[in-house]
Amino acid sequence: TGCPMHAGAPGVTEARSLLGRTNRDWWPEALPVDVLHQHGVSPDPMGPDFDYAEAFSQLDYQAIKADLTALMTDSKPWWPADFGHYGPFMIRMAWHAAGTYRVTDGRGGANSGQQRFEPLNSWPDNGNLDKARRLLWPIKQKYGRNISWADLFILAGNVAIESMGGPVFGFGGGRKDVYQSEGDTFWGAEEIWVDEGAQTRITDDLPELEGPLAAIQMGLIYVNPEGPGGDPNPLLSARDMKATFSRMAMNSEETVALTAGGHAFGKAHGAKPAENFGKNPAAEAVHMQGLGWLTDQEEIGRGHITTSGIEGAWTNNPTRWGGDYFRLLFKYDYELTTSPAGAKQWTPVNPDPEDMAPDARDPNKRVPTMMTTADMALKMDPEFREISLRFKDDQAALDDAFSRAWFKLTHRDLGPKIRYLGNDVPAEDLIWQDPIPAGVAPSDAEVASFKGRVLASGLSVSELVRTAWASASTYRKSDHRGGANGARIALEPQRSWAVNEPDRLATVLAKLNELRGSISLADAIVLAGSAAIEQAAAAAGFTVEVPFTGGRGDATQEMTDVDSFVWMEPQADGFRNYLKSRQRVKTEELLLDKASLLGLSGPEMTVLVGGLRVLGANHGDRPEGVLTTRPGQLTNDFFVNLLDNETFWDLVDASSDEEFIGYDRGGRHEKWRATRTDLIFGSNSQLRATAEVYAERGHEEKFVRDFVKAWVKVMNADRFDLTARRSED
Ligand code: HEM
Repeated sequence: TGCPMHAGAPGVTEARSLLGRTNRDWWPEALPVDVLHQHGVSPDPMGPDFDYAEAFSQLDYQAIKADLTALMTDSKPWWPADFGHYGPFMIRMAWHAAGTYRVTDGRGGANSGQQRFEPLNSWPDNGNLDKARRLLWPIKQKYGRNISWADLFILAGNVAIESMGGPVFGFGGGRKDVYQSEGDTFWGAEEIWVDEGAQTRITDDLPELEGPLAAIQMGLIYVNPEGPGGDPNPLLSARDMKATFSRMAMNSEETVALTAGGHAFGKAHGAKPAENFGKNPAAEAVHMQGLGWLTDQEEIGRGHITTSGIEGAWTNNPTRWGGDYFRLLFKYDYELTTSPAGAKQWTPVNPDPEDMAPDARDPNKRVPTMMTTADMALKMDPEFREISLRFKDDQAALDDAFSRAWFKLTHRDLGPKIRYLGNDVPAEDLIWQDPIPAGVAPSDAEVASFKGRVLASGLSVSELVRTAWASASTYRKSDHRGGANGARIALEPQRSWAVNEPDRLATVLAKLNELRGSISLADAIVLAGSAAIEQAAAAAGFTVEVPFTGGRGDATQEMTDVDSFVWMEPQADGFRNYLKSRQRVKTEELLLDKASLLGLSGPEMTVLVGGLRVLGANHGDRPEGVLTTRPGQLTNDFFVNLLDNETFWDLVDASSDEEFIGYDRGGRHEKWRATRTDLIFGSNSQLRATAEVYAERGHEEKFVRDFVKAWVKVMNADRFDLTARRSED
């Protein structure tokens, strides 16, 4: 079904909480530093005035790249470099930083440096990457404010590839660090990790990965290298790879290029059973200083390291880019073997001596290469095999595909290209960057005359508000996609989304196109919404001007990556009281999730819901939540009537707890209808406290002003062109 919160498969209907298993569940004893960050206090030591874009512009880019290049071969005894080169290790770190991204909700990814924090810093799949980050510390310290950790992770990956002769497409900076774990990401509900036997999320009965997840088991970035749930079946591994990589909007060619390109480098670590190693970083003792999974120094020096448990390099040249991965994959038969740590892997049968790998510590010693079950999928799955054979015979094609896919992997969650910083940003526009042509801001006179035409056009307040909301509210701050700019609401797939009521939308857009003259459609949609709100406020007795900043451009269908926009279709939009079908997550949690993706605060979410209800923005004109006798006027009636002690609420019928009737206590006659999303503002104590403010006498005008402010915030959420080079997320 493609529905982000629901597996859409039989047997997965039991409810889950919005956030699933959280840091507090995993590490109940961790110091709760966030008690210091209540009441709007920020954990960011750089303060609100820090302008990262400005700081990055002062970065000595050539110098830091030279320092990173030197670091690659500067082996430290406390964590010696395999083959004398940290490059592969840094690539894996960058890949795992970026690879948590999922297109479903845009969360995860490299853009805020989350690999420094729980849970990611302690995920089994991120084993030993704590050392990779620690190796980077002297460079981070040296360049300080001029480069964020988040940018440094990706730059280190790029420099690593370059320093081993690999192709790099470019680099854009602009990932501003945050200073706490992002608490809004659902990583799964399982109570154990992959290495403790967490269930695999795709089975014969459950063919679809639960949304919005993109990994196959708790604690993994993508798939289990040993095969589904440890079953060394390359074909089933291919199935899992396709499912998980497509959640990052990667197609099969990109998936093959990335995996094979990545495994041109480095080795897997499974020298001895994992029981001999320390706890994960978050669970470790204070004197371990945030490092985990350690064993004694002598063992480390000898290279007796276990990370994944698989042991060996993929190729005979693990620190040099080239075609050896595919050459070996197809030259040899591989047999299923077991590593010293007990992991299932594949070993070439009778390799020629020159096709053996160097030992990680002793270049004069040769050891067998290996493939993981996931690597074997590239040979055994018919679709992957065809791509692999093409790359085997065409190195230039692999170079191009790998460098482009790596660039996409590491930059996708940075958002539109206008957010990229630095001189290494490729000139070419890429479809996944959701390009939008530059727009021209209309003059004040054009604005005023257009507003007049719109209000005289016969289009209703409700139609205009709903259309502007539908256009702008696709924005998500997680990966900076969506929003009103580009007017993609007039293009596929958005114009056909059920939430947008396609027929009614088409009528409104046709009318706006007729009236807009030289104003872009994207601006016209927003402006028409502003005009409607000003009129609705005036009808309620308030004179307000909804601030408008023009200059949006109109994208074309050719500029629109339909496949990756499909994931953004709302299955619910509490602001429009819309629910496509009941989800595993409670409907009010879906509202919270949407508000969080829009970057709204609690008061902003509250005031918007209250205002949108009385303006008639509900999907399909449904009556629920329209707690007013004068719809179309921008009043605080929603809050006044919701909190009225003379109303009591009851289920419409016992078979569903989605819809309710508000009765008059005295006469028991029906006064109102509402959904869970409406009633949560009276039932949740924190939202009720906010709703009370908007219902209070003397706050009628505050309500209008706060509504307009929150509305404009949503309309402008994607205006990176206004704050070009802006670095905040
Ligand atoms: C290492 C699995 C995709 C780059 C590894 C290891 C495993 C693994 C098991 C060994 C970790 C250890 O024990 O140290 C997979 C699977 C993938 C995948 C199952 C997808 C199906 C990728 C991608 C890249 C990549 C997309 C980068 C483009 C690397 C590198 C290493 C590595 C460079 C070597 C690290 C080192 O030498 O320390 N991978 N990987 N992998 N992976 Fe992947």
